[in-house]
Amino acid sequence: MNAMIVAHDLRRTYTMGEFEVQALRGVSFEIRRGEFVAIVGPSGSGKSTLMNMIGCLDTPTSGSYHLDGLPIEQLDPALLSAVRNRKIGFVFQQFHLLARSTALENVALPLAYRGGISAAERHRKAAAALERVGLGERMEHRPQELSGGQQQRVAIARALVTDPALLLADEPTGALDTKTSAEIMGLFADLNRAGMTVIVVTHEPDVARQTKRLLEIRDGQLVRDVLTADAWPDETHVQKARSRRLPTRQQWRLRHEYA
Ligand SMILES: Nc1ncnc2c1ncn2[C@@H]1O[C@H](COP(=O)(O)OP(=O)(O)O)[C@@H](O)[C@H]1O
Ligand SMILES: [Mg+2]
Repeated sequence: MNAMIVAHDLRRTYTMGEFEVQALRGVSFEIRRGEFVAIVGPSGSGKSTLMNMIGCLDTPTSGSYHLDGLPIEQLDPALLSAVRNRKIGFVFQQFHLLARSTALENVALPLAYRGGISAAERHRKAAAALERVGLGERMEHRPQELSGGQQQRVAIARALVTDPALLLADEPTGALDTKTSAEIMGLFADLNRAGMTVIVVTHEPDVARQTKRLLEIRDGQLVRDVLTADAWPDETHVQKARSRRLPTRQQWRLRHEYA
């Protein structure tokens, strides 16, 4: 089992004065390199909290989390931030682009943070990342000169420029219309086909449908872990065929073992 992510009994409690919110109540799962996963669930169910753990932006109150074999909850903040910069690309609902900077400058920024990379090299890598998301012709545009979908592509290029092993997107289509959302999900699917491990948080079924595996969270607990293809059995013959099959969880495990 070549797992990239191993989460075991993750719990996260937020303390607000005398109140405690249990945002995650014992979540366990594994994700392998090359998977394309949707984390779904209603608002307030703990999706972003979980995403922050996976992305090493936050550590659990208890439980363990290994990313590429590293025990994340045992790393100090400096090491954690180095792991983030090396391994993970982030995409958010609000694109978080610098308004006064061009697309190229925005995309080059994580390389400047990393340090030790010449300006020419940063430029070359940023241009390549923008080409990869189909924005080769828009490099000198500023965010306000781009559509929402194009701005999200810039943000995706910025996430890709450090060549991360893992791409994490929290509600990446939340600010986009249906057609543009489908294009952005198509881009994630292309990246996944090229080998990238992609995890997308969403509460929109149409977005989740475009992934390969579905993790559903409710009230801080994992309630479903299925192949996306099996999540919406909308035709009876499909349902009949399914009833003769192994339970989804076992199928999933076997398919991955024999992949
Ligand atoms: N920083 C925080 N402080 C206190 N409570 C929080 C914080 N972040 C999230 N929560 C609470 O934890 C629960 C899960 O939130 P979140 O992970 O953001 O859910 P989702 O992303 O699924 O909407 C909610 O009840 C939310 O109010
Ligand atoms: Mg959220």
